[in-house]
Amino acid sequence: MLTQNPHTSGEVGSFYNRHTDVYDQALGGNIHVGYWDDEADDSPMRAATDRLTDLVTERVAPAEGHHLLDVGCGHGSTAMRIVAHHAVRVTGVSVSDYQVKVANDRPQPSGLLGQATFRLADAMELPFPDESFDGAYAIESLMHMKDKMAALGHVARVLRPGGRLVIAEHHLEGELDGPDAARMGDAYAFFKISLTTDRYGELLREAGLKVVDHTDITENVRRSYDSMVDAWREAARRESEGEKAREMERAADLGGWIFGVTPQLRYGLFTAVRP
Ligand SMILES: C[S@@+](CC[C@H](N)C(=O)[O-])C[C@H]1O[C@@H](n2cnc3c(N)ncnc32)[C@H](O)[C@@H]1O
Repeated sequence: MLTQNPHTSGEVGSFYNRHTDVYDQALGGNIHVGYWDDEADDSPMRAATDRLTDLVTERVAPAEGHHLLDVGCGHGSTAMRIVAHHAVRVTGVSVSDYQVKVANDRPQPSGLLGQATFRLADAMELPFPDESFDGAYAIESLMHMKDKMAALGHVARVLRPGGRLVIAEHHLEGELDGPDAARMGDAYAFFKISLTTDRYGELLREAGLKVVDHTDITENVRRSYDSMVDAWREAARRESEGEKAREMERAADLGGWIFGVTPQLRYGLFTAVRP
């Protein structure tokens, strides 16, 4: 039986202060997986990771003038793409001060100034009034939160009735045990994650949200993982020795294992609405 990891948001932020540039390089300027239609789809990484942003955005269904919440906004690439293509505002929160600085320092076309803003805040204690957002999305951020229920409760609270939350996230289909559970425990501790086995169904319902769709896209995103592992190995080579090199090597070993041999690891798009 896998134990959940009680890492703090400060530890998660510090992880992303160290790893954001490696993710960015591996994933073509975004910090989330790419989406490919099938084997024949030869889209480059940037196009594929932008495609994931677009799939999430479609599900949020933004309308002109909407204000969206980006839960775990990374270095702002997702929000910037959304405001460039939709007449909406986005507020992003991250627990990495490095990411918030990179996001707020991004050059913005003059017509879009102020449409996307970013702040250091913890999604498990969102500092926004009730019903202040028309929609929200969380791309690969809930896996880092030790109290997913608290975060989803806050998102439900700040969404207006009728507002949608879209989650793009890894989860486990079934439990791991024996050596696999031990290894996954190591990966949880290293990457500051814990994965739900609940497909977000129970969690979203308990938060007062109604699940309207779950689409499993594990096979569509799989190609992203080799690129991540290569980028960690490359970062380790660049450092050549010392603690940072060892950290990148460990990321490559654990990441290669999780992504390569864990059939229980799935990736889903979950859409829920606040009734
Ligand atoms: C894999 S990155 C994804 C970034 C972004 N969603 C994207 O798709 O580019 C995970 C993000 O989740 C954020 N995160 C993790 N735990 C968080 C928390 N408790 N509150 C807010 N953000 C959090 C991290 O700071 C980081 O920005």
